[in-house]
Amino acid sequence: MSRKIVAGNWKMNLDVLQARALYNELNGKDTDQDVRVILCPPAVYLSEFSINIKEIHLAAQNVSDQSNGAYTGEISAEMLNKMGVDYCLVGHSERRLYNGETNDLLYNKIKQLIKNNVHPIYCCGESLEERESGKERIVIQQQLKEGLFSLSADDLLKCVIAYEPIWAIGTGKTATSGQAQEMHAFIRQLVEDNYNTRIAQTISILYGGSCKPDNVNELFSKPDVDGGLIGGASLDANSFKAIIDSF
Ligand code: PGA
Repeated sequence: MSRKIVAGNWKMNLDVLQARALYNELNGKDTDQDVRVILCPPAVYLSEFSINIKEIHLAAQNVSDQSNGAYTGEISAEMLNKMGVDYCLVGHSERRLYNGETNDLLYNKIKQLIKNNVHPIYCCGESLEERESGKERIVIQQQLKEGLFSLSADDLLKCVIAYEPIWAIGTGKTATSGQAQEMHAFIRQLVEDNYNTRIAQTISILYGGSCKPDNVNELFSKPDVDGGLIGGASLDANSFKAIIDSF
């Protein structure tokens, strides 16, 4: 059985006082043990948040593909692990777009994370143009093949996959639950084809893209949707809590 997960990606938002206030509200929340709650704050807040952490888990939004050394501005997977960070986003579409991150680079980041016991949350998703020309499956297949599927079966099981259609991120346009289910089932089938049924049924596949309290019930009710990667709606304690509680 795959684990249910709700992850909040704060992106480059919230000053320290706002971030602390939001974190304190969520950290005290009594959450159903069956749902794993993950927060991805900006990296500068990770060390402070890791000190008093309760039920929730911390994720970084990015990591270096190198282990250590003269890489100004970078953060290593080992640093994240020693700081108590359990997860890290890899391949978010904003990083693919603004930082030119390729599947090959992302695969190296994933290897660094796994070596250091941090779980990668590997993001994949197609653009509007790709969807309108019917290429969404080809795009996802390539992102998974090049970024993820060279891992061993044991290592793949340490990863989470997030399907985030780019046209739904921050646009207010969510994929319908039918579209999400179709792509999630496709991704699970790819995992089965490249690994086996047990791994396909165990890996968590999250949906991301304009998730809100009023649409997650429908999305999370789909059999292959194991949770959500939440951007905008994770910046408000009440809406993020409502999304967690919708499981
Ligand atoms: P959004 O972002 O919920 O604001 O659309 C999701 C994401 O980018 O992970």
